[in-house]
Amino acid sequence: MTPPPSPSTATRAFLARPHALYIGGRWVAPLAGRRFDVFDPGTGERIATAAAGDAADIDAAVAAARAAFTGPWSKFTAGERSRVIWKLADLIEQHAAELIELEVLDNGQPLAVAQHVVRNLAPEFFRYYAGWPTKIEGATIPAAPQGRRPGEVLSFTLREPIGVVGAITPWNAPLPMLMVKLAPALATGCTLVLKPAELTPLTALRMAELCSEAGVPDGVVNVVTGFGETAGAALAAHPGVDKIAFTGSTEVGRLIVKAATGNLKKVSLELGGKSPVIVFDDAVLEQVIPGAARACFFLQGQNCMAGTRLYVHEKVHDQVVEGIATIARSMQLGHGLDPASQFGPLISAEQRERVRGYVEAGRREGGELVCGGSAPARPGWFFQPTVFARMSADMTPVKNEIFGPVLCVQSFGDDDLERVAREANATIYGLSGSVWTRDIGRALGMVRRIDSGQVSVNMHAAVDPAMPFGGNRQSGWGREFGKEGLEPYLKTKGVSVAW
Ligand code: NAI
Ligand code: MG
Repeated sequence: MTPPPSPSTATRAFLARPHALYIGGRWVAPLAGRRFDVFDPGTGERIATAAAGDAADIDAAVAAARAAFTGPWSKFTAGERSRVIWKLADLIEQHAAELIELEVLDNGQPLAVAQHVVRNLAPEFFRYYAGWPTKIEGATIPAAPQGRRPGEVLSFTLREPIGVVGAITPWNAPLPMLMVKLAPALATGCTLVLKPAELTPLTALRMAELCSEAGVPDGVVNVVTGFGETAGAALAAHPGVDKIAFTGSTEVGRLIVKAATGNLKKVSLELGGKSPVIVFDDAVLEQVIPGAARACFFLQGQNCMAGTRLYVHEKVHDQVVEGIATIARSMQLGHGLDPASQFGPLISAEQRERVRGYVEAGRREGGELVCGGSAPARPGWFFQPTVFARMSADMTPVKNEIFGPVLCVQSFGDDDLERVAREANATIYGLSGSVWTRDIGRALGMVRRIDSGQVSVNMHAAVDPAMPFGGNRQSGWGREFGKEGLEPYLKTKGVSVAW
């Protein structure tokens, strides 16, 4: 096995730095002096160490964020905030090579994924939100409070930034997860304390520097790396935080909601998923097969939108399953920095054991293992893309979010449409989903029935900065992306002026 290509000098220099916390525009050591190791999932080797911030560091970061919120940041005009966000997009492009390598080394994802994120998705996303500050408007209201007549009172609404935001992000797509919280927070005039996942803290640290370079005042963006149970929990409970924006597991989402009750801070949550992919017999199979494979195997299945439950019409079932299995078997597993790799490792040894456990359960419960199912003998936390056929609704891998490359296939016949629609909604989640057919009536009928925040037709997980995205049921609270993505960062003040 050839060793992975070595990263650039700039990236190696960044990795070697004794990373600290970014608070009030300065790099500061964690008060308790603790640190943790950061690993490359593609080799299993340590590549950096980061500072383990905890409650006292969160205190300092929240104080810095509050001072910036009431101070310099509040003096920025909407147009000035716009320019800062646009500049940040430019800087991401300028430093793309380094950010791409850091994202790959931190998370394990294939180069092509990181390239798309850094060169396209992130700059586009920041530029989309750069357009918003000058367009956040209240309304004039034809109100007549306390018997006032028209001409005696003017009522209007102000849209104000919610204040200090605690952003807690996961490891599966570190930069996008940070970006979807940072951009609307900056657009609305909020300040942030960001707690990136302990498994992937690196791009957040680099982004803090780029924010500063873009002209974001000190204290607007603070980064406290550290563990969920300490730094994350302290942020979620902090009385000086006005809102938590969280992406991660449904289990931790529940803990965040509980922690937020102290000061009743606002909470938005983007949680797990178990999204259905429904394929009818008239669908264009040359699109379905690669589309369904990608829906499940993108980011090695470590994707909240992953299409992990495939329902295929019995007439095309065997062809679709064989097509996906052929793709799965041929995918080149490898280190993300190797341009030939199409499929990276899982995030950690622990995550791989979780995935293995679900595969064992699928076997035990009578699923037919079509391909994959085990870890290849090589360094790094790899697991083969796996397809199970003849699954049923009550099986463990069908009911639970695996967050790994495991596709569960079921078939249906002409008379089963009600059952498929019911089963599509028969998990605690409701995040994404897709329907594949040439019949527009059938497609839209299914779109209405699927209780998810996002449903795509003849594609899966359609993501765009302007398209609202978020979960129904236990997949979350609120929406990110698009105009709706600003809402969690704003509060409305009703003003009436009598004269
Ligand atoms: P997690 O939900 O524990 O981690 C996400 C973030 O929450 C991290 O920054 C972590 O430090 C923080 N966190 C953890 N405990 C916290 C607490 N008590 N208070 C505040 N913050 C806390 O996810 P984990 O354990 O890494 O992954 C476990 C499973 O969660 C995965 O297998 C997957 O099923 C699901 N998951 C879903 C994600 C999604 O995007 N929907 C992302 C990551 C994980
Ligand atoms: Mg956890």
